[in-house]
Amino acid sequence: MRLCFLLEERYRYDGMPNEVIRQLVSWGHQVDVVRPGGSLLRMTDAVDAGAHDAWVLKTVSGGPGLALLEAAAAAGMTTINDARSIRGVRDKVLAAAIGRHRGLPLPTTYAAALPELLREIPDAQFPLVIKPADGSSGRAVHLVSSSAQLEEMLPRFAGEGMLIAQPYVPNSGTDIKVYAVAGELFATERGSPLHPDRAVPERRIPLSKEVAGIAAEVGSVYGLDLYGIDVLLGPEGPVVVDVNDFPSFRQVPDATARVARAVLGLAQESGASPSPHWLSASLPPQRAPGRANSLG
Ligand SMILES: Nc1ncnc2c1ncn2[C@@H]1O[C@H](COP(=O)(O)OP(=O)(O)O)[C@@H](O)[C@H]1O
Ligand SMILES: [Mg+2]
Repeated sequence: MRLCFLLEERYRYDGMPNEVIRQLVSWGHQVDVVRPGGSLLRMTDAVDAGAHDAWVLKTVSGGPGLALLEAAAAAGMTTINDARSIRGVRDKVLAAAIGRHRGLPLPTTYAAALPELLREIPDAQFPLVIKPADGSSGRAVHLVSSSAQLEEMLPRFAGEGMLIAQPYVPNSGTDIKVYAVAGELFATERGSPLHPDRAVPERRIPLSKEVAGIAAEVGSVYGLDLYGIDVLLGPEGPVVVDVNDFPSFRQVPDATARVARAVLGLAQESGASPSPHWLSASLPPQRAPGRANSLG
């Protein structure tokens, strides 16, 4: 297989994507690496449709990586994950609208292009969690207890671009993170960045049937093959607060070989991967059946 990996600068020395690349090369595959965040890109010649069997994106939100992947997809190439699916989760505004429409348990989500617009959120929705629509890794995620505190904090949100605000989901201070590798699910727990006092290092935990079902649904709703979700156990059950394409897969057993095998399998499917359900207007809002196995 001939693969093109689009890698973020900050993952230059990161174990996950680099070990996967080394593994693929050691199995005899060709892997070309493009670092869109640290290269001058001659976009008009960036996509050579015949040169690779698949393109793989491992970058953070907001950089030029996704544009390159979308260009590859527009040229008819296989991309991992599906480029439209990545767009559907990296924009948290879009992810909230798609997910709720398809019956996923997500918090009520407001979007505001200007921080001042957040003043219009009803008092009954506080405390709020406010975060940038294109955020990742806990950047600029804030808990705001009241409208008075919101007023004080507004200047902090200037320059963050589009913002989202959600009612705070009461929780134990621990996130459940579920990682999905081409149909297999693995769960870990990790301290919420909003509860630094209850920090726990990420560790593997058993995956409940309920959370496994939700995680599998997330994959089919957004059309993702390699992804992770952050789940909180709220008073009314599990709530999905974040969906990430190509996450760290930390604590996933044999993550390197598992992800490398998944990349090869997806590349071989060459274009056979299903479109995200949200692109299909004929599908009614519903809970899609899970396609993944719970490994616990
Ligand atoms: N609505 C919410 N209620 C309670 N905690 C939240 C909520 N949204 C996010 N969090 C906490 O903040 C953390 C970071 O938010 P998240 O949406 O995952 O952003 P990021 O993309 O930066 O990871 C989550 O892992 C969770 O612990
Ligand atoms: Mg998160």
